[in-house]
Amino acid sequence: FHTKRNMRKSLSFARILTATALILQGSLAMSTAVKKVAVIGTTGRLGRQAVLQLNENNVPARCLLRHEVDKSVKPSIDKDASSAEVAAYLASLPNVEMIKGDVTDEASVMELVDGCDAVLALHGAPRPSSFWKPLFPFLNDDSDTSHPRMVNYEGVKNIINAVRSSKNCKRIVRVTGKGEEPWSIFSILINMLGNMAKAWNYEGEELLRQCTDLDYTIVRPGVMGTPNVAEGAVLALKDNGGDLKVSPVKHETIASLCIECLYYPNAARSTLIAMNVPDGEGEKTYAPLLAKVSPDSREFPASMLEGHRTAARTGAAVLFAFFAVGASVFVSIVQSVLALFSK
Ligand SMILES: NC(=O)c1ccc[n+]([C@@H]2O[C@H](COP(=O)([O-])OP(=O)(O)OC[C@H]3O[C@@H](n4cnc5c(N)ncnc54)[C@H](OP(=O)(O)O)[C@@H]3O)[C@@H](O)[C@H]2O)c1
Repeated sequence: FHTKRNMRKSLSFARILTATALILQGSLAMSTAVKKVAVIGTTGRLGRQAVLQLNENNVPARCLLRHEVDKSVKPSIDKDASSAEVAAYLASLPNVEMIKGDVTDEASVMELVDGCDAVLALHGAPRPSSFWKPLFPFLNDDSDTSHPRMVNYEGVKNIINAVRSSKNCKRIVRVTGKGEEPWSIFSILINMLGNMAKAWNYEGEELLRQCTDLDYTIVRPGVMGTPNVAEGAVLALKDNGGDLKVSPVKHETIASLCIECLYYPNAARSTLIAMNVPDGEGEKTYAPLLAKVSPDSREFPASMLEGHRTAARTGAAVLFAFFAVGASVFVSIVQSVLALFSK
């Protein structure tokens, strides 16, 4: 009995010690490590949450904006607010500085990063204006500044160069998505209809993993922005680019992960999958999860571009075949009906 009681006592003591260590690790670092953060993708749904949270934690933010702050619009952070209204709102916050530029323009990224300790690269290529254009590669110029090759890949190169030439900045947090399965239906659809956005995001990730002189944290979140996060769902992380079932996650939750990971040295040089899982399988906050992640140790494929291209082309061919068969069935039905009426 005594031994059992002693064991229970020492177990709860160990738990208290662990909890205290975790709290200290988080709060000590919060107060010391990061003095200014550069944000890319400022007015995006993820970026705006990151700027708001940095501001709440009194961390100055320098944000890249693709347009000037328009003083004539009403500042707003509402869900339906325009990019200009969100920019005006964020620019009005204390300790938020706006830099006009574009991730595909190296000079503006240099200006953004200079004097910051970390970069949150929360940008993503815009959705193509028409759904059918990406199906015809010859209609798409991959040197256009809105093309995923430029935004998700060349943009990351610019960030790496800017970090290398800065004095203080050594950490890049990049948000991408699951993309190591070219033949998954999600990858095929996103690549097929989004100008290979997933493929170029993976190539951008690899640029970061191949740098030995700087620290990165790659965050691959679930589906953001869907309101239906399951009731009682909790947070989960898998390091080393491991596997977790895709689930809806909130922009504000992923924004907090991108900021919190800056305070965990063990999260440097890591590729993290971030999903929601049923209660009992995860944690309510990221602190205990981040405390356990490790830097990447497995071999990631150096490039997956050809695999993604083949899968997307196959997807497009199947789609065309489907429409061709559908159209010919439709034509023969119409012909039969017309023949019936003409008798
Ligand atoms: N939404 C999801 O379900 C999901 C899931 C997994 C991963 N992700 C990734 O997470 C990231 C953010 O998602 P989100 O929902 O916040 O997307 P979002 O609302 O579309 O925001 C994208 C942001 O990227 C900026 N951007 C685009 N091209 C740029 C360029 N050339 N230079 C600088 N900034 C540029 C946009 O700027 P403007 O405001 O000026 O247009 C916008 O602020 C994306 O990279 C996406 O790939 C999203």
